[in-house]
Amino acid sequence: MAMMGTGSSPIRLLLLLFSGFLYHETIKLGSCNDNVDVGCIDIERQALLKLKEGLRDPSNRLSSWVGKDCCTWSGVICSNRTKHVVKLDLHNADEYSSLGGEINPSLLHLKHLNYLDLSKNDFGGNRIPEFIGSLKKLRYLNLSLASFGSEIPIHLGNLSSLRYLDLTAYYLYSDLYVNNLQWLSGLSNLEQLKLGGVNLSRVVDWLQDVNFLPSLLELHLPYCGLPNLPLFLPVVNFTSLMVLDLSENYFNSSIPHWMFDISSLTYLDLRSNYLRGHIPDAFANMISLKHLDFSYNFYIKGVIPRTLRNLCKLQKLNLVNNHITGGISEFLNGLSECTNSSLEKLDFTSNELSGNLPESLGHLINLRYLHLSLNSFWGSIPASIGNLWSLKELDLHYNGMNGTIPKSMGQLSELILLDLSENQWEGVISEDHFANLTRLELLKLSTSPTKSLVMDVRSEWIPLFRLNYIEMRNIQLGPTFPGWLQTQKELTSLVLNNMGILDTVPDWFWRLSLQFTDLDLSDNQIRGRLPDSAKFHFLPSNLGSLRLRNNSFSGQIPHNIHEMMPNLWRLDLSENFLNGSIPSSVFNMKRLFILVLSNNRISGELPQTWEILAELEVLHLANNNLHGKLPPFLNNCTSLLILDLGDNKLYGNLPTWIGERSPQLKILRLRSNLFSGTIPRQLCRYSDIHILDLAHNDLSGLIPSCLSNLSGMIGRISYHSSSIISSQYVMVGTKGRELEYSNTLPLVDSIDLSSNNLSGEIPEGINILSGLGILNLSKNHLTGKIPEKIGSLRWLETLDLSRNQLSGMIPQSMSSLTSLNHLNLSYNNLSGRIPSGNQLQTLNDLSIYFGNPKLCGPPITKNCPGDATSEGPVPVGNDEDVDDDGFEMVWFYVSMGPGFVVGFWGVCGTLLLKKSWRIAYFQFISDMKDRLFVLIAVNMAHLRRKIELKRNQCPK
Ligand SMILES: *[C@@H]1O[C@H](CO)[C@@H](O)[C@H](O)[C@H]1NC(C)=O
Ligand SMILES: *[C@@H]1O[C@H](CO)[C@@H](O)[C@H](O)[C@H]1NC(C)=O
Ligand SMILES: *[C@@H]1O[C@H](CO)[C@@H](O)[C@H](O)[C@H]1NC(C)=O
Ligand SMILES: *[C@@H]1O[C@H](CO)[C@@H](O)[C@H](O)[C@H]1NC(C)=O
Repeated sequence: MAMMGTGSSPIRLLLLLFSGFLYHETIKLGSCNDNVDVGCIDIERQALLKLKEGLRDPSNRLSSWVGKDCCTWSGVICSNRTKHVVKLDLHNADEYSSLGGEINPSLLHLKHLNYLDLSKNDFGGNRIPEFIGSLKKLRYLNLSLASFGSEIPIHLGNLSSLRYLDLTAYYLYSDLYVNNLQWLSGLSNLEQLKLGGVNLSRVVDWLQDVNFLPSLLELHLPYCGLPNLPLFLPVVNFTSLMVLDLSENYFNSSIPHWMFDISSLTYLDLRSNYLRGHIPDAFANMISLKHLDFSYNFYIKGVIPRTLRNLCKLQKLNLVNNHITGGISEFLNGLSECTNSSLEKLDFTSNELSGNLPESLGHLINLRYLHLSLNSFWGSIPASIGNLWSLKELDLHYNGMNGTIPKSMGQLSELILLDLSENQWEGVISEDHFANLTRLELLKLSTSPTKSLVMDVRSEWIPLFRLNYIEMRNIQLGPTFPGWLQTQKELTSLVLNNMGILDTVPDWFWRLSLQFTDLDLSDNQIRGRLPDSAKFHFLPSNLGSLRLRNNSFSGQIPHNIHEMMPNLWRLDLSENFLNGSIPSSVFNMKRLFILVLSNNRISGELPQTWEILAELEVLHLANNNLHGKLPPFLNNCTSLLILDLGDNKLYGNLPTWIGERSPQLKILRLRSNLFSGTIPRQLCRYSDIHILDLAHNDLSGLIPSCLSNLSGMIGRISYHSSSIISSQYVMVGTKGRELEYSNTLPLVDSIDLSSNNLSGEIPEGINILSGLGILNLSKNHLTGKIPEKIGSLRWLETLDLSRNQLSGMIPQSMSSLTSLNHLNLSYNNLSGRIPSGNQLQTLNDLSIYFGNPKLCGPPITKNCPGDATSEGPVPVGNDEDVDDDGFEMVWFYVSMGPGFVVGFWGVCGTLLLKKSWRIAYFQFISDMKDRLFVLIAVNMAHLRRKIELKRNQCPK
């Protein structure tokens, strides 16, 4: 204003006259600063002081609220002209300086307030004061994330000047709600409405209420518990709407068309609902759209709509986790015709997309994030990928990419993340492929073991990248140990699994690995000794997980391993040629909870005291030369889930403390040892056990009748729900014939007590264990009858009672064992007619019944008394199935990540493996169709191939 002009005394005089003496004490005559500072209006100052009084201010944010001129107080902004407080901005910038307490109605004295921001404070669940609705001048009101609670007062509907209303509440924690939104109709000037996290589930017709806001530009209603998204809106009132965020509600309808009529929309977010059906092909008018998100609806299906390809302004398209089918060629071809495609992020992760990636991909030169993982794309990466010079992330993992990777990939100088794992790549990867990947930090690359992908780089190659994560599997990288790793000084995680390395580990590598938290060199043919303290110079390493399984390491486990790797939580040295005994230092690793030393030549006695390993969850020492008794320290391992000491020379009685302190044990495998004595009743305390294998020992006495207490084997639910993080499961299958597992059979429960000296009868109560999939009691001295109710074991797949002295009739109930596919009752004293019907009809292998001379009726030729003569095949005593090697077992260690439903047997489930024992971990082998996550370790390549073969044979 001119009257404030510098050095114009007459005007100053005029002002004096105008203002009279009202403000005379605040007027500074003749000051250098010619501003006439009138301070603030006293009544407003008083009001602010009252407000301050009511507020809790532990961090003293309002310390500047003293003195006369309230316009200088922090957060208070006055009009330059009238000196009225027009703006109050008390939002909290960090979590430590929250205001709280009460908002005094004195605020109403700020009659000119048009801006009020109290966001991110903590009002402890108090209700938003009704009087805020009387601050008539308010244009901006932000009460978001300020821990207001209970019902939002409808009085806010009186704020007819309001342009901006933000009441966003903390998701999950808020109890802010409204019962209706009719009051919105009073806010006819509203441009932005943000009610995220406010519970709107009781609002009957939220859309109609919002439709009273013709000026609306932004509507944010995420996580509001909205139950339905109206399919019809005859007249769309908010024709200027630019932002529509309805994510994270409970919409389960199809996607309505009305929103596609709003041509001004730039941002449409319907993420995380339960929308179903197709995405309407109605984008023709939505030429302004920049951001489109339909991700995590799970039920959206159909192809990518045609009209989407014309949206040249599109920057982000997110369709993650739906059932979108078809290809992406037309879509990308269309976008590439834009003079300048704006697309920065394309995320189609986890859909059912298939087909080739087209060359036109290379036209999307602004692309930064390309996520196409968990689909069924095939073919090669187009060479044009090299044009995507902005690309930061390329994720193609878990597809059917069966072509090659182009050298042009090496031009992606902005690339940080490259995940090409779990595909069917072929061809060669050369230094050119990485030529300019200077920013790369994460590299994941793997192909199926049946394919040939060669990584052809010189040992003296000096790559430009500094990776911190490498995970490569099934690539021909060897035979020499990759020398270029020497340059990777920032690596924290290295997985080189089945890479054809046929070499010793160079000394520099062990020094490098001091930085690692995860090292996995499994499934190579690396020879030599494990690093000893000399190489490590006693520098403790960060290593948390060390897996060297299935190599040719020899020598002993270093005696001071606990000093070298004090942080180890997983140690897997299985399937090597390690000898010597288990050094006591292993028992001093405080964090260890997975110890796998199986399939080595480790000898000696198991240590008897082992206090420190009380956290142990998984202990595999199977197939070594260990001897001695079961050490009492096992009783202290209260977290134990898997105990596998099979195939050793352990002896003595099974102790009565067994089961006392680790009731959550899932798997107990003591098979093929020299244990003697009786099976203690205390074993039944393992109420959550799923695999109990005591076969091939020297156990005698009765089978404890309390076995029916093993409630883990009752039903099939408990196994499912026990999703113990990063734990492992062992699964057993017997040979005989191929086991056919249906997709619905998740995991198999098993009891194997075969090849002992057990006597007495089969406990009647065993029929309670309704989840049992495998029951093998063969090669004992069991007498009496087969339990009458055995037919209630409805999931039983394998039943072997052969080579006992069982007598009596075969119970008719056995015909209701509809899952049964391997049955052996041979060499007993069974008599009478063989029951028939259902599944038993299909098991017509005569050897099932061989060696029971008193049996009669089909399928064997001997007629029962009174039957007419028939001409069937003559039984032949073929003993092939019961070779002395015992039963071939397949052990699968199935790892369950949080939230994953693991269904190994769902991998079509037909398995037949030769050789005695296989120990297998499954490592994210995934069935393209069923998306199962399965882990394999020892003999992985071999097993994988087997499973792959079997899978390909599955009837589709
Ligand atoms: C008041 O004047 C100052 C300094 O000229 C300026 O920065 C500020 O934006 C003005 N405030 C208002 C509310 O107009
Ligand atoms: C559109 O908004 C105006 C102004 O709030 C209102 O009078 C009218 O009823 C609204 N129309 C519909 C169809 O809701
Ligand atoms: C790649 O996979 C697709 C789809 O399964 C198939 O049609 C094509 O023949 C395969 N190509 C090669 C080279 O194996
Ligand atoms: C790598 O980048 C440099 C500089 O940007 C460029 O001159 C060179 O041609 C690039 N090489 C490859 C193989 O892309």
